[in-house]
Amino acid sequence: MRFGGLRPRRTPAQREESRVTESSGRRPIIAANWKMHHDHHVAIQFVQKLSYLLEAEVFENGDVVICPPFTDLRSLQTLIEADNLELGLGAQNCYFEEQGAFTGEVSAPMLAKLNVDYVIVGHSERRQIFGETDETVNKKVKAVLQHGMKPIVCVGETLEEREAGATAEKVSSQARAAFDGVKSAQAETCVVAYEPIWAIGTGKTATSADADETIGVIRGALRDLYGVTADAMRIQYGGSVKPGNIAELMAMPEIDGALVGGASLDPDEFAKLVKWSS
Ligand code: 13P
Repeated sequence: MRFGGLRPRRTPAQREESRVTESSGRRPIIAANWKMHHDHHVAIQFVQKLSYLLEAEVFENGDVVICPPFTDLRSLQTLIEADNLELGLGAQNCYFEEQGAFTGEVSAPMLAKLNVDYVIVGHSERRQIFGETDETVNKKVKAVLQHGMKPIVCVGETLEEREAGATAEKVSSQARAAFDGVKSAQAETCVVAYEPIWAIGTGKTATSADADETIGVIRGALRDLYGVTADAMRIQYGGSVKPGNIAELMAMPEIDGALVGGASLDPDEFAKLVKWSS
């Protein structure tokens, strides 16, 4: 069966050619982080409907990525490949060891085998609920890169840190730690997501000016590590992004995309959000 908005999935080389679409030189990327929602049946229906709702031009304007739970990955890989969909596939986490006695964990090579393109690393929920540290985030970033995928590295401050004026230091130190020992050529392929913890799932969005300023701070920290390469690294904003505020966020010079939780769970709402420029 064929759906609207379909065309042959481009080769990595063709994707590379069309990477640069913005005056910043950075290709926008909007990613759905479903968190622990949607089993593989729902996931298939969602992607079928989404691909029907999205015209091919949407993919000219940027990357669209779905990050479902692990149990959905194989089903979505099969659907994306069978129907030549332009959607990217992402995982929400991985373990940094390749294999071994690590009950319940999933490794980077296992995800690479499913043709996963992106892996979210260091989401604040993983840091706060599951005890991820800057050190484990760094190991995961390296594991993801080693297996040819792109990490989406999450950083962000708590409300207390923001109120104490510690936002810049927090996000800079998280970024420095995540990329410790990562070479420039690899860092260039990485995505960073600035997600202020107080804005996640709360309906409170950072103002576009605040988000832009903090993303500028993150890019500054990356520039200290990588020089001009930092200007090629894509940095998303995440935290209560909705169809109603995406255009304003995307208009900011430092914001290269969005990592979307709640508003990514419904295909109609997510399609509206992805079509922010039309
Ligand atoms: P919400 O969009 O639900 O605020 O979640 C943001 C997020 O955590 C995406 O990773």
